[in-house]
Amino acid sequence: MTTSAPSSRPPRAELHVHVEGTLEPGLAFELAARNGVALPYPDPASLRAAYDFADLGSFLELYTANMAVLRTAADFADLTRAYLTRAARAGVRHAEISFDPQAHLARGVPLEDVVGGIASVLATSAADHGVSTLLIASFHRDKPVVDALDVLDRLLATRAPIVGIGLDNAEIGYPPGLFTDLYARAREAGLRRTAHAGEEGPAANVRDALDLLHAERIDHGIAVVQDPDLLTRVAAEQVPFTVCPVSNVRLRAVPSLTEHPLPAMIEAGLLVSINSDDPPYFGAYVDDVDDAVTAALGLTRDQRAALAAASFQGSFLPRDRVVAHL
Ligand code: HPA
Ligand code: ZN
Repeated sequence: MTTSAPSSRPPRAELHVHVEGTLEPGLAFELAARNGVALPYPDPASLRAAYDFADLGSFLELYTANMAVLRTAADFADLTRAYLTRAARAGVRHAEISFDPQAHLARGVPLEDVVGGIASVLATSAADHGVSTLLIASFHRDKPVVDALDVLDRLLATRAPIVGIGLDNAEIGYPPGLFTDLYARAREAGLRRTAHAGEEGPAANVRDALDLLHAERIDHGIAVVQDPDLLTRVAAEQVPFTVCPVSNVRLRAVPSLTEHPLPAMIEAGLLVSINSDDPPYFGAYVDDVDDAVTAALGLTRDQRAALAAASFQGSFLPRDRVVAHL
């Protein structure tokens, strides 16, 4: 897809992007060579050709397998820097970047190297890339809550520079209610709270993320359109939804962009932003997503401006910093 100059787009924030999901095939091969890791593909083009997914599960399998190349703090720094370089070109002025601590601990990579590598780049992102950043630790729904609690405690004990927590990975069979203790502890610690909900799962997961986890923001949340009462409520409460339309199509949660519930969410008055999720895996950074959605759904200039404004309004930035962006 093509990329326009940032000046042709309204400035925006990106609130839903997994740093591990920004791994370009070329960088994967570079890191594999550096770390002596073998990838089961002959070259980057073959790896990219494998980015064809039947569902969330088949994506998570490859996404997790590719993490094998991320071994050192320098690898995480390079990954983060590459995303910020590309995001700046997309017109992103503020990014709230998730990472999956449990995925790396399971592979024997020390938490300090993961956090240290990412944070070393985020610390100077505004000066280096013109992008302010916040970091979110995302926990796996398909792992036991005690595991997540242990990792959260370690993040807090080491004063990891995280603004908040999230919840990701497989949704079906792992309802939000499993993580009430995790979210309560995060809340007590003064952390902000987002959660993937209603991506492949039902609208009830969105409601439970709000009521049981006290999530302040919902990642995806597209199933909300199936519950008119909930739709009315989240519009009234202006709960931010970080929607990723290209991801939803590529993971077949939605058959096509033209059938995406984004217009229904906008129509209902929700605070919706558009995001990339895992850009190389889905073939679209956030500017590409913006272009694809605009073309498929015929969004007006005003609607696109409202989506860009919502990306700042739904952020975890302090109010005065949000206002400065609007
Ligand atoms: N959903 C759940 N888990 C994820 C995703 C997603 O879209 N991307 C990376 N991990
Ligand atoms: Zn996601």
